[in-house]
Amino acid sequence: TIYADSERASVAVAQQIAELVRQRAAEGRMCVLGLATGSTPTRLYEELVRLHQQQGLSFRNVISFNLDEYYPMAPDSLQSYVRFMREYLFDHLDIESENIHIPDGTVPQEQVVEFCRQYEEQIQQAGGIDLQVLGIGRTGHIGFNEPGSGATSRTRLITLDHITRTDAASDFYGEENVPRRAITMGVGTILEARHIVLLAWGEGKAAVVKRMVEGDPTDSVPATYLQQHPHVQVVLDEAASAEL
Ligand code: GLP
Repeated sequence: TIYADSERASVAVAQQIAELVRQRAAEGRMCVLGLATGSTPTRLYEELVRLHQQQGLSFRNVISFNLDEYYPMAPDSLQSYVRFMREYLFDHLDIESENIHIPDGTVPQEQVVEFCRQYEEQIQQAGGIDLQVLGIGRTGHIGFNEPGSGATSRTRLITLDHITRTDAASDFYGEENVPRRAITMGVGTILEARHIVLLAWGEGKAAVVKRMVEGDPTDSVPATYLQQHPHVQVVLDEAASAEL
């Protein structure tokens, strides 16, 4: 779906999420959301907060799983995705803190494999992800699944691509401060979500959006594996769709 701008697109996706959360609440069921970080979903999160504050949209029946976190990363650090999610979303909602899951950037290295296994298990125990929100990196990554990530990859520790570290440099006041690794849900983990909504804005994403949508599925652009999923929505502004 191509919208005139990211503002309209974000408001529409927020409506869609709100409907799902309300529908689940009406059925007395939990709603499991997969959430992304980065600049792309910030307006979407702002709109969800507005719907909570002004229209009484409750998140008490929401369980969330974030895609990824830098490694190592302290949760109270400025660049942590824990801080990001609290600032943009969780601190302003009535979601129960025990229902929030974000990969832990403080796990000792020898325990990371076990941590990742447990993260997958928690997703399963919650009943799987109903709706996964995704952004896309210029390398074609979803979550932090950099080129080389296969379609069946699971939650794990990965090494960040040079381009990704360059793109994150301003957040860390210099590329040398950007962590070299991250914990991310795998492509296979993401593909198990029942519904996926990928958002991309701006001309800087136009080239990778074209490769994702029109290229053959390949691990050199992990987002191309989304083509194999039966319920994916790609939501773009005009600039991001310019090369399609
Ligand atoms: C980050 C995140 C991704 C995000 C992507 C794009 O590195 N790990 O989940 O989708 O890069 O970021 P942005 O939305 O700022 O363009």
